[in-house]
Amino acid sequence: MTASVTVRVPAKVNVQLAVGGLRPDGFHDLANVFLAVGLYDEITVAPADELRVTCTGPDAGQVPLDRTNLAARAALALAERHGRDSRVHLHIDKDIPVAGGMAGGSADGAGALLACDALWGTGASREELLEICAELGSDVPFSLVGGAALGRGRGELLTALEVGGTFHWVFAVADGGLSTPAVYAECDRLREASGTGAGIADIPDPEASAALLDALRTGDAAALAAAVSNDLQAAAVSLRPSLSATLAAGTEAGALAAMVSGSGPTTAFLVTDETEATKVADALRASGTCRAVRVTSGPAAGATVLRG
Ligand code: C5P
Repeated sequence: MTASVTVRVPAKVNVQLAVGGLRPDGFHDLANVFLAVGLYDEITVAPADELRVTCTGPDAGQVPLDRTNLAARAALALAERHGRDSRVHLHIDKDIPVAGGMAGGSADGAGALLACDALWGTGASREELLEICAELGSDVPFSLVGGAALGRGRGELLTALEVGGTFHWVFAVADGGLSTPAVYAECDRLREASGTGAGIADIPDPEASAALLDALRTGDAAALAAAVSNDLQAAAVSLRPSLSATLAAGTEAGALAAMVSGSGPTTAFLVTDETEATKVADALRASGTCRAVRVTSGPAAGATVLRG
């Protein structure tokens, strides 16, 4: 039997996050355009005396190590379906910001699932793995597939998208995280307060922007910048007003687009090339409006077995 398996999984940014009304099941229908970017967590799994999770990396102290961790839940779900022994050690080498709107927890779920699948040789189909991912969380299927995709439903029903080039990004990591349910609830509250209502009868069905999909297909960063949107941005800024200063600092430094990444509080800055990325990153560091700055690009490949 293989002694251990290591899987690498990317972070994501949502270049469009269109949020429909609140559904009776507590979720929102989305038109969610995901782009995987080159910040990665690595998940290593090996047989052990009991199921346990460890984590290293700059934000490791903020990662839950109990069975609420999506990596542990992924191992348990796959073990249950295939009658395997779930006593494994899952180690997460974490480089994706925690609770930042970059799907770090989802990445660990998808990574642990693929790693356990390889360790146990379950022979599960891609469809079955995607089904388990969807049970674990709305963003987990995308962490498995990577690249770029449109997510419908609550974000779990994926259609792969063509991307015609490399997009360069700078990410500003804020102090502390934001809870995804709290940001969705704030979005509903702001909609109620503005008088539109927040239910599925009040909000039009979310649709992917044709201009945005075109910009992805042609690899045109300026066109993508003109088309990006995030319906959760106002809610994230409402809960964390200091994000306005971070967004302004990146815009002043010449970013083509400045936006909150997913439910935040990480902010994302689209730039023309690596030189501009360095310039915007330096300006964000100097602004004192964020805890850390990361430079990367996308699309990046989905969950990939590195070793084992
Ligand atoms: O699917 P996931 O566990 O990541 O969702 C976390 C929470 O985010 C949900 O309980 C819900 O409050 C909110 N959410 C939502 N609509 C979605 C996805 C998530 O309201 N499409």
